[in-house]
Amino acid sequence: MRQPSGRHFLQIPGPTNVPDRILRAMDRPTIDHRGPAFAALGREVLDGLRAVFRTDSDVVIYPASGTGAWEAALVNTLSPGDRVLMYETGHFATLWQRLAERLGLEVDFVPGDWRRGVDPAAVEARLREDRDRRVKAVCVVHNETSTGVTTRVPEVRAAIDRADHPALFFVDTISSLASIDYRHDEWGVDVTVAGSQKGLMLPPGLSFNAISKKAVAASAGARLPRSYWAWDEMLATNAKGFFPYTPATNLLFGLHESLAMLREEGLEAVFARHARLAEATRRTVRAWGLEILCVEPREYSDSLTAVLLPAGHDADAFRQVVLENFDMSLGSGLGKVQGKVFRIGHLGDFNALMLAGTLAGVEMGLTLAGIPHSAGGVLAALDYLTESTGLPDSETDVSVAGKVGMVR
Ligand SMILES: Cc1ncc(COP(=O)(O)O)c(C=O)c1O
Repeated sequence: MRQPSGRHFLQIPGPTNVPDRILRAMDRPTIDHRGPAFAALGREVLDGLRAVFRTDSDVVIYPASGTGAWEAALVNTLSPGDRVLMYETGHFATLWQRLAERLGLEVDFVPGDWRRGVDPAAVEARLREDRDRRVKAVCVVHNETSTGVTTRVPEVRAAIDRADHPALFFVDTISSLASIDYRHDEWGVDVTVAGSQKGLMLPPGLSFNAISKKAVAASAGARLPRSYWAWDEMLATNAKGFFPYTPATNLLFGLHESLAMLREEGLEAVFARHARLAEATRRTVRAWGLEILCVEPREYSDSLTAVLLPAGHDADAFRQVVLENFDMSLGSGLGKVQGKVFRIGHLGDFNALMLAGTLAGVEMGLTLAGIPHSAGGVLAALDYLTESTGLPDSETDVSVAGKVGMVR
């Protein structure tokens, strides 16, 4: 089925395209993970990650997918029967809830319509009602990868503070870290969960917890069973640059390179690049006359856009047409929106021309699949990319928006 030449377009919202620089960095003999060269690598990647999470506290690295880091956040801090507050923002929030229930936690899962993020006012109201302080943690997904909706994490933090509630605050940044502005310390997050395969531009296989001092203190009294995920041994060995079990050494070589690339570009520029490409995508979708799943403009995701197809059209059949004819993978609709939406990933190692190619493939696919849409979608992106070219890389999302008249 694959086209015989040219490269495959991997435009799912993660795993993302791995840049050649990172592939080359991993293409090396594995070293002794108990030797001195490893210790230097271990210290450097742990330090570099702190800068990306924007934290002075501890970060731990697991040789696991993101789901492992979800579990680690819960088992290190909570006890059987503890109550946690979670919000149904989409498929990944739902999976995290299921995981928490399987661990024996009591989940207060607030229903949602999969088209908006966590409502900070609702968090405040819920926590104010919790007079005996039974809720031990509030868990939110920063960027819901199934819907393309970004929750306003600082506002949720402010809501917890207004309710004067002592609950821990856990945030999943698996599809936002190194793509959308995120600040573990400043936003008062206790455990941030992340993975390697999206904004960090690495293959799947590593996941992370950034841990506040309050979370470390909570782990001392937490009674959920844990061994592989336990922070105490991890932190003790990390202090010398080592790990308590065999680390994914070659992925760590890749992580070292990824952190260097992010440092060279600068996090603000990385966020501005993602914001610009996301805005170009949304302009295209609107010009096609199709609907963006996210209904709240201030919650638009800069890592991906989920697009609703008109009733009667199957999004998976459409994706198949795009794959067969243009060798491009688009994200499928997950859970409740399966078959109804497709997702365009625009995160990680990505630029304007890669986006133009991606959107061209989608537009041609819409025509071939017989999905009603207006012409001119790709042109809308090209116009926007042209007019926003050359703005300083250091511009923030909001100032780029102001300069080019973007409404956010
Ligand atoms: C927001 C979010 N959370 C959690 C996960 C689960 O991570 P993993 O599939 O790496 O275990 C994903 C995966 O895409 C995700 O996007």
